[in-house]
Parts: sequence; C-alpha cells; structure tokens
Amino acid sequence: MTKPTYDQAFWEALWSKTLREHGDKVAHRRPSAHLTGEVVNLHPGRALDAGCGHGADTLWLAAHGWQVTAVDFSASALAHGRSMAEAVGAEVAARIDWTEGNLATWTADPGCFDLVICLYVHAAGSVDEMVRRMASAVAVGGTLLLVGHRPIDPSTGAATSAAGQVQVCVEQVVAALDPCCWEVVVAEERPRSVAGTGVDAVIRARRLS
Ligand SMILES: C[S@@+](CC[C@H](N)C(=O)[O-])C[C@H]1O[C@@H](n2cnc3c(N)ncnc32)[C@H](O)[C@@H]1O
Repeated sequence: MTKPTYDQAFWEALWSKTLREHGDKVAHRRPSAHLTGEVVNLHPGRALDAGCGHGADTLWLAAHGWQVTAVDFSASALAHGRSMAEAVGAEVAARIDWTEGNLATWTADPGCFDLVICLYVHAAGSVDEMVRRMASAVAVGGTLLLVGHRPIDPSTGAATSAAGQVQVCVEQVVAALDPCCWEVVVAEERPRSVAGTGVDAVIRARRLS
C-alpha cells in the first residue's frame, strides 16, 4: 500500500468524505482541552489557528472574544467551519476570517498575532522551520501554542493515528525557540485528550522580544 503524503489532495479528500459521511459527528466536536486549558486566562486579541480543520478551536476562540484568522488548505473543512460559525451567530461569525492557504507557503505578517495556535498539523518540511514560521507571526507579549501527537505510543510501542506524520515534539520545539526571545511556559507530554492512543506534546511559549 502506498504511504499517504498528507498533502492538500489527501486532506481535502479526507475532509470531504468525513463530512459527507459523518458531518453530524464532526459538528459536535469539542474544542481541544489543551487549547481551552492553556488559553482561557489570556486577554483576547488577534489569533491565528494554523491548520484549523473542522474549526471547533476557531469557534471557541471567537466565542471568547478573539478575532481569528483560520487557515487550512482543505476547502471542505473551511466551508464546514464557516457554516458552523454562521449557525452560532453573526457576532461570532464576524470575528473569523476563514482563509484557504498552504502553511508551507502562506505567511502572516511578522508579529501580527497575539496568539498563534497550531494543533496536530503534519509538518511537510522540517519541524524547526515550521516552528520558526509560526513563531514569527507572534507579537511581543503574545503566545504560541503548539500541540503534536506522537506517532508511537511510548507505553506500548504501538503506532498511533499520527503514524507516518511528522508533528511537533517537545524537544524540537524548545530547541527551535531562541531563549533570549521566548519564555517556554509549558513543555510537556500529556495523555491524549481526544480519541486515540499515545501522548500529545504540548508547548506554550510567550514572546519576550
Ligand atoms: C489532524 S487535522 C487537525 C485539525 C485541527 N487543528 C484540530 O486540532 O482538530 C490537520 C489539519 O491541518 C490541515 N493541514 C495540514 N497541512 C496543512 C498545510 N500545509 N497547510 C494548510 N493546512 C494544512 C489539514 O487540512 C487538516 O485540516
């Protein structure tokens, strides 16, 4: 069997099939507990949800007062997110800019977000490059929240649903953030908060300069 490449065609096909067959279930997805736990005490401002997928995290942020740019390269996922936001109400929908873009090439203006989140996104190039790209969009005083699912469950050695993907891990993110410019507030592996096995790497850092 050929290995998936996790490119735009792969994700668009996956989202369009999932939404066609299980749209109701997707509509009830909860926001990430890592997100809600880490961000709830931050003052709302401008946020980037990079690789927003079904949009539950974007919706939670917008409902909590954030002005969100939600980027994904799956048009189906974005359409789902947009319709969920409209169903919540005009005020929340107006706080979200759904943007179709490939994170490998899409760039935000430097320092233009108070919060950048990137959860469970496969890095097509190096993790280091992806972290630097996300970090550069954070304003001084702002927060970077990265979450990755480990491809192997460390307790059993079994492959997880992230097998074959390259997602952020604690060591690589911490190494990529210049300690003169970043305070790493959280850098830990936690039991997975959504369906599946294994652990998630959760990194929250604050930009100092
Ligand atoms: C596993 S899903 C995670 C979605 C959401 N962040 C969450 O935590 O539920 C990964 C998402 O990232 C998107 N994605 C992956 N690589 C991307 C890229 N290079 N550019 C834009 N979106 C990307 C996919 O389309 C998919 O919606």
